[in-house]
Amino acid sequence: MWLRCTSKCVFASLSRSYNNVLSRSFNIAAFMPEAAGFEGVSDRAALQEFSLSNSDHFWAAVARHRLTWISPFHTVQDCDLSRGRIKWFEGGKLNVSVNCLDRHVHTCPEKVALIWERDEPGSEVKVTYRSLLDMTCRLGNLLRRRGVKKGDCVTIYMPPCPLAVASMLACARIGAAHNVVFAGFSAEALAERIRDAQSSTVITVNQGVRGGRVIELKKTVDTAVEGCPSVKQVFVAMRTENPVVMTDRDVSMEEYVFSYHDGDVFGCVADIGWITGHSYSVYGPLANGGTTVLFESTPVYPNPGRYWEMVQRLRINQFYGAPTAIRLLLKYGDHWVHKYDCSTLKTLGSVGEPINTEAWEWYHRVVGDGRCPVVDTWWQTETGGICIAPRPSDPDAEIVPGMAMRPFFGMKPVLVDGEGKLLTSNNTSGPLCLAQPWPGMARTIHNNHQRFIETYCQPYPGYFFTGDGAHRSEEGYYQITGRLDDVINVSGHRLGTAEIEDVVNHCPAVAESAVIGYSHDVKGQAVYAFVVLKKEVGVPEEDLSQLLKDMVSKSIAKYACPDQIQFVQRLPKTRSGKIMRRVLRKVVEQDLGGLGDLSTLDDPAAVQEIVQGHQDLCSGERHSPLKVHAS
Ligand code: WTA
Repeated sequence: MWLRCTSKCVFASLSRSYNNVLSRSFNIAAFMPEAAGFEGVSDRAALQEFSLSNSDHFWAAVARHRLTWISPFHTVQDCDLSRGRIKWFEGGKLNVSVNCLDRHVHTCPEKVALIWERDEPGSEVKVTYRSLLDMTCRLGNLLRRRGVKKGDCVTIYMPPCPLAVASMLACARIGAAHNVVFAGFSAEALAERIRDAQSSTVITVNQGVRGGRVIELKKTVDTAVEGCPSVKQVFVAMRTENPVVMTDRDVSMEEYVFSYHDGDVFGCVADIGWITGHSYSVYGPLANGGTTVLFESTPVYPNPGRYWEMVQRLRINQFYGAPTAIRLLLKYGDHWVHKYDCSTLKTLGSVGEPINTEAWEWYHRVVGDGRCPVVDTWWQTETGGICIAPRPSDPDAEIVPGMAMRPFFGMKPVLVDGEGKLLTSNNTSGPLCLAQPWPGMARTIHNNHQRFIETYCQPYPGYFFTGDGAHRSEEGYYQITGRLDDVINVSGHRLGTAEIEDVVNHCPAVAESAVIGYSHDVKGQAVYAFVVLKKEVGVPEEDLSQLLKDMVSKSIAKYACPDQIQFVQRLPKTRSGKIMRRVLRKVVEQDLGGLGDLSTLDDPAAVQEIVQGHQDLCSGERHSPLKVHAS
């Protein structure tokens, strides 16, 4: 993320989107005062058109109006997608930390910038813009005194907490890049990322606390840096009161003082170790002077009411989460939501993977009480911020469940065919590309520009390739069907995994599912479904299996019907909640040596259970004909 500091904050700033994509009604003057200077722009459609056909004018107005520049840019953009050349705001100079902090300290110093929702429920800490600036400056000075300079890359291995945000902003302030590594990663995974970034400085905490468990983060850093000769110093802040062993390399960080204040509250529950946490917990809200929640815990700690109890206590207005968490909570029943007053909620956001219809409807009906729009926002690390979302749009414009629907301003999604020809009609599917550059986009891969060009620019020359497939409906709305490498090809029929999962998840007994393809002698590939049931389902698994197969045959086609259904307790997921289909494929291919590093999984033990279950299923199958024979 730190690769694109300059352009990124322009996008983050435009992400008043975070306010407006996630708000109830669309008002052009309120959404974008700059639009007054755009000729002939009076409604959303005209603004969308203007943002594409006058893209320089559009982005220049946004950048000038919403950001504070140290020196102004002379050229808005110089981009050539076909060659991977991406340059925005040439000649311009700004500091993202000044844009996130100083500007607001001038106008509203006591406004709450961060609400740190600590793991221990009810012990939240509020940090004002003034104290966040203070914390950031002190940390920036400390880093500078300790030799960190412009262009260095600092690795941050911390749970979501104010000091982690101050560390990110302090790096940005002194011109250093930050490499935030999710604090659930193993020593090995951390070491690899430190080496990749060639960091000489690491910032961490003594211990983390998540779901009531203490996590020895400093110890993990100690192990990691043994294999990282570049590391010269490790800053250690105290998250808990337990002392940890300090070495010559370690520098302990003093405490800071927090002040308390009320404010508007944006609740993005993503970890800061992921892009959603970067753009929508830190840079987006702060660049816009908002109040943002840093969620340190898990959705089920101390119980499955955690999110909603927090919504009530912190009076959260916009809640932004992942489908995987929604599906998990749905499994526990409505009463966990009904226990709390969620009436402050105005908009519910979803990101990270396709949200199946059942989860969307539950989110809308139960969490949002039927009155909050649910916005399914599509984007990716490479795009920096939301690209396709149902809002902003005209106030009464429809929202179709489970669809990201409408391109955001300045975004031009297109679908192509196998040869890279544009598919111009509606009601069509294909690889999703973005046809115009935008300031928030990735510009390169650190130390590997060639790989950037090969991955994103070469597959469909002239377009930025997202790696996702999408369907454009009759009405022109976009629905993401999933990663293209997850596509299954059964007897020549291409199927998106999301499509089949959506049907399976519709069964009232099913909490969630993951579908993969595996090689099959006759069909090329066959469908294998892993299914997690809701609590206390009293139907025999065999009957359910048949029911699910019938549902898929009926809703999609007979060829889409899973050959194998394995019931599991949980699915292997990344820490950001994405199902690791790669792992599931390896299990089914019986290639356990090829499972790779499982420490990046949320719950590595899940894999063991699945391997066992798969073996049982196989042996059961091998035995059943024998049994028949014997009888
Ligand atoms: C998937 C997360 C369907 C997609 C912001 C994308 C989605 C990848 C959605 C990026 C959505 C994200 N509907 N799929 N609303 N949002 N994805 O880099 O496959 O962690 O390419 O960024 O998540 O994941 P990343």
